[in-house]
Amino acid sequence: MNLRCILPFLLASFSAGAFVFNRVATFNICTQIDPTCNTDTEAVAEIVDASPDGNTLLYTDGVAGNIGLVDISDPSNPVGLGTIDVGGEPTSVAVTGDGLYAVAAVNTSPDFVNVTGNLIVIDIESQLIVATLPLPGQPDSLKVSPDNQFIAIAIENERDEDLGDGAPPQMPPGSLVVVDKSDTDPTMWSTTLVNLTGLDGLRFPEDPEPEFVDISTDNVCVITLQENNGIVILDLASLSVLTSFSAGAVAEITQIDATEDDMISQTESLNDILREPDSAVFIGTDYFATADEGDLDGGSRGFTIFGLDGTVVYESGNFLEHATARYGHYPEGRSENKGNEPEGMTYSTFGDENLLFVLSERANTVYVFNVDPTDPSNVSFKQVLPSGVGPEGVTAIPSRNLLAVASEVDDRGAAIRSSITIYEYAEGTAAYPTLVSNNRADGTPIPFSALSGLAAADAPGIGGQAGILYSVDDSFYSKSRIFTIDVTSFPYAITNEMRVMDSDGVLAAAFPNSTLVNDDMTVNLDQEGIAVSREGGYWIANEGAGTVGDIENPVTTANFVVKVSTEGVIETVVTLPEEIDAIQVRFGFEGIAEYGDFIVVAFQRAWGEEANPRLGIYDTTSSTWKFVFYPLDTPSSQNGGWVGIGDLSPVGNGDFVVLERDNQGGPDAAIKKIYKISLGSMLEVEESTTVEKTLVRDVLPDLAASNGNIYEKLEGLAVTSEGEVWINNDNDGVDDNSGEQQLISLGMIVTIPEGTATPIEDSPTVSPVQGTSMANRVGHGGALLVFGFFALL
Ligand SMILES: *[C@@H]1O[C@H](CO)[C@@H](O)[C@H](O)[C@H]1NC(C)=O
Ligand SMILES: *[C@@H]1O[C@H](CO)[C@@H](O)[C@H](O)[C@H]1NC(C)=O
Ligand SMILES: *[C@@H]1O[C@H](CO)[C@@H](O)[C@H](O)[C@H]1NC(C)=O
Ligand SMILES: *[C@@H]1O[C@H](CO)[C@@H](O)[C@H](O)[C@H]1NC(C)=O
Repeated sequence: MNLRCILPFLLASFSAGAFVFNRVATFNICTQIDPTCNTDTEAVAEIVDASPDGNTLLYTDGVAGNIGLVDISDPSNPVGLGTIDVGGEPTSVAVTGDGLYAVAAVNTSPDFVNVTGNLIVIDIESQLIVATLPLPGQPDSLKVSPDNQFIAIAIENERDEDLGDGAPPQMPPGSLVVVDKSDTDPTMWSTTLVNLTGLDGLRFPEDPEPEFVDISTDNVCVITLQENNGIVILDLASLSVLTSFSAGAVAEITQIDATEDDMISQTESLNDILREPDSAVFIGTDYFATADEGDLDGGSRGFTIFGLDGTVVYESGNFLEHATARYGHYPEGRSENKGNEPEGMTYSTFGDENLLFVLSERANTVYVFNVDPTDPSNVSFKQVLPSGVGPEGVTAIPSRNLLAVASEVDDRGAAIRSSITIYEYAEGTAAYPTLVSNNRADGTPIPFSALSGLAAADAPGIGGQAGILYSVDDSFYSKSRIFTIDVTSFPYAITNEMRVMDSDGVLAAAFPNSTLVNDDMTVNLDQEGIAVSREGGYWIANEGAGTVGDIENPVTTANFVVKVSTEGVIETVVTLPEEIDAIQVRFGFEGIAEYGDFIVVAFQRAWGEEANPRLGIYDTTSSTWKFVFYPLDTPSSQNGGWVGIGDLSPVGNGDFVVLERDNQGGPDAAIKKIYKISLGSMLEVEESTTVEKTLVRDVLPDLAASNGNIYEKLEGLAVTSEGEVWINNDNDGVDDNSGEQQLISLGMIVTIPEGTATPIEDSPTVSPVQGTSMANRVGHGGALLVFGFFALL
């Protein structure tokens, strides 16, 4: 029994009694259109609320113009109940406290000046609209008071961002509508407009633009005025404004990344950043929290807890930015633009925990904090949860120990479907994150994402340390790195990052005038595969960019392999024979493996007119290539697409396992498989033969086990000397991707032949085909072999 088998058991016995949230289901909104989501039509969920019994969810679909219903009586198996057309764009929905009605704010404005809207009242049982109350403008957020007496509706009358410089003030001004719903007949409910112009603390007092409302058990209403960086506190019974104030600025946020330079640097500071809060939620009756998303000039990348008089009792500083980086969810592409962007939030009591949930719209995560309602300066982080892309709405259902989060982005072409994620609060351990990073020396987390290859230190024939994996990032980032992952305890930990360096000028000599090498000798590779070498150091496969003859995607870099030392310095560059480069397609090197004196590289897809992708077998002793073809599965997704190789790993005796995947995600994903092939002694493999493959594992069920949408890019595969198989996904730098990082052990599913787990002494050579090594080859032999072996221990 290895250490990793014992640890979860120990963790479980120590954590008895601990309650955590885990994802139990993902409901794709497209299933309301087609049960298998075989549709390109956009269907989204933005704001979500639950019926008082917690069995039904209602959500707004502002794109389709309807309110959707979902039965969650079995939370792990949500069932769509259809949609109700509301004749406009619903901006918010809430269920009344008696459970009779869903009330929806609906925008019907033809433009930004002629502003109109309705409050639609839906009888939940019959699913019929029973009342339509006109609103004096374009609504945004809406809430029903906890005592079920009032509905507060923010009438935003949002600005036209394309008018002039887009800045407020822009007439007409927004306001608040308060509905007195005491009459049993919803058509008789009375509405009152509350004028919010001219208040203290606003940047544009003539143009309030209210964004979000929440109501306390005292019937006090908090209203955020995002563009105004303002907050209004109002008494619902008397309809009087109690106070209004500026949400203020965060004086300094340190150690963050405020520059989009293809690196997550965490070395910058921002000063006097306006909070510009979006959502707000009461914490008891005397405090409220705001999600400081930002809009015009601000966005302080965190959340704040205020007293009702505007006193700041807690400010999260750089916590969310760092947490986001620590879990691989940092959106580098938003560094100059409000970072993780906290947007939605809610507060609720589960068991004996008082919990604040904060949704990061750009990181696609939910952060859960314990916040003491009697002392809300006492905030402690509990856990992180993965959501769909663009989490916007959240509702807590403590009576059923459930939490629901609506993620609004729906883009089938990008393998993203809008969804509602259901999480359950139960005794146990958190299944997410699977991978977290340790800190750098400066106290910030080692940032990581776009992990595109995987290798075990103790891969068969290598002999390195058990419990260690290596990964690499791809061309999403500059200054390429190799990551060390400790998998002896869960969550798995990134314990080290190492930049690949061209200190000896080997890469620069191989590719003069290229932008592959930076001034500081770091390199910008498109690392798609990594293998550990039995001689010490690593082999890295660089995927070339561009396709020969394609004007839109011309060839800018070639496919090549680099050997780097244990210190990360490039020692060798191995390029392809010229005639192979001559048929380059932009789906190139994707995986690499070492076995004996050979390295094997997998091309992602077929090149030129060829029917199948190549596997390149490179003999390091003779510097010669030999190629065979790998027979890919035929795309079987309902959405078509293509299939390619994601990675490969040695399993002893010249056998390899190969990861195959289609370019589909979510309900369209069909092919995520591990096959085994044999290259035998590699000497006997005939040039240009098509190898035979046998299925080792269909990993779709393994991926589905985390109850999320299947991710498209399964790009990491590693096998240990004991036959344990690991897979990992490339989360694309959280760009058109949820950022979810699933590093999964499939268990000991491969048998490693006896005697092949330890380093190979020597290997037969293949007959030369093309000699094209860029020389500088590392020496090799018995002495080096032994040195390499011990260096890895
Ligand atoms: C608003 O409505 C009026 C009357 O229907 C129309 O003339 C005008 O073009 C609309 N738009 C604006 C921007 O005023
Ligand atoms: C709101 O109050 C301002 C003065 O504070 C007034 O000019 C404006 O007309 C009022 N708006 C409405 C809709 O009553
Ligand atoms: C802070 O809150 C936690 C619960 O979240 C509680 O256990 C702890 O005692 C509180 N600490 C202080 C100093 O009040
Ligand atoms: C590199 O650039 C220099 C000057 O810009 C040029 O003279 C030289 O031929 C280039 N080398 C290659 C290999 O393209």
